[in-house]
Amino acid sequence: MNDIQKSVALLLTHARAASEMAYSPYSRARVGASVLDQEGNIHTGCNVENASYGMTQCAERNALAAAINAGMKPGTARTVVIYATGFEVLAPCGACCQVMSELLAEDAVVYSCHDEKNYRSWSIRELLPEPFILN
Ligand code: THU
Repeated sequence: MNDIQKSVALLLTHARAASEMAYSPYSRARVGASVLDQEGNIHTGCNVENASYGMTQCAERNALAAAINAGMKPGTARTVVIYATGFEVLAPCGACCQVMSELLAEDAVVYSCHDEKNYRSWSIRELLPEPFILN
């Protein structure tokens, strides 16, 4: 295993653990996400649903919020790993792509993993080539 594979495998362990904390009585999908910051710290989040469905918070955005809360400098983290039950590989939703575009490094890579061997990865620019930005 090379170093990038090792760090993705470690991040997957954290994303999986985060997915176990999901509050998802409506969809029953358990999603976890982990963010590796530039200092080597890992931040995680899970999906948190609500009876008013539109209030649902996705795992990726919760992981990024946790990272910012812990002092991560916006625009520096380069790796995100997503894990979700009930999906072969979950592609991040548009809202998460927008938020990831703003808070991750420009060359960040997002991995969505079923397990260590079955995953997809995208650059943040592939996921959202033209994010909304304020002039
Ligand atoms: N979900 C995420 O956590 N991340 C995504 O990128 C897409 C969807 C969650 C929201 C909801 O709790 C469940 O997956 C089904 O939509």
